[in-house]
Amino acid sequence: MTNPEAAAKGAGAAKRAQDFAGVRDWAGYFDLMVGKPARETLVAALASFAREDAAGGGRSPERLAVDLGCGEGRDTLELLSRGWRVVALDGHPKSFELLEPRVRPEDRGRLKTCVASFADAVWPERVDLFNASFSLPFCEPRDWEGVWRRIVASIRPGGRFAGQLFGDRDGWAVLPDRTHHRRAELDALFEGFVFEELREEERPDTNHDGKPKPWHVFHIVARKRCEA
Ligand SMILES: C[S@@+](CC[C@H](N)C(=O)[O-])C[C@H]1O[C@@H](n2cnc3c(N)ncnc32)[C@H](O)[C@@H]1O
Repeated sequence: MTNPEAAAKGAGAAKRAQDFAGVRDWAGYFDLMVGKPARETLVAALASFAREDAAGGGRSPERLAVDLGCGEGRDTLELLSRGWRVVALDGHPKSFELLEPRVRPEDRGRLKTCVASFADAVWPERVDLFNASFSLPFCEPRDWEGVWRRIVASIRPGGRFAGQLFGDRDGWAVLPDRTHHRRAELDALFEGFVFEELREEERPDTNHDGKPKPWHVFHIVARKRCEA
């Protein structure tokens, strides 16, 4: 069923982020996203680190984050501006063509970039923050288990995961190259973590042509237990 209001706008309606992401047109997606602020889950995770620093006397160590599927770099730029070291990874080279010119000279020494698929990407063995904003649902199902195991292993005790997973009622859950999760699966995925945010968003939406695109998204910030 199509949304009559959106359909009435006709084929001339501008494409939306989901039109590009739905078909993995990342160059088109980046053009739409460039210049947008950091994702809310990253900002929340950074606030938690800042609270810990304040409680510990305000001295903030230089921390290390991985930004997996960094896109045009909205989250990487935020991390760098706050003094973090960042390993930014993405499968699309245009990601870094857009990101690198926008990195301030004083931040450049703290950024490493690499074009790699999730399955082939290599990141440090011990990180303070693993950030994956709206990227992991695009992991091929055959790669998911290994990628997730490596993510969890690399987060140090007391470190955090920030990002999104997509649910089973999302419109893209039927696509064979996507990885979606039921709510009940999240507790097992995040065994050894405490959720600081687990917000389930479910809402109807449409593509630019009026075709339905229901969203079912889990927005997650989780802290790895120190005894994990
Ligand atoms: C929806 S975008 C999210 C970008 C950015 N993190 C954001 O929040 O806007 C998904 C990103 O994941 C990357 N991506 C998708 N599948 C990938 C894969 N299998 N390996 C590596 N990167 C991938 C895309 O190139 C794209 O930059």
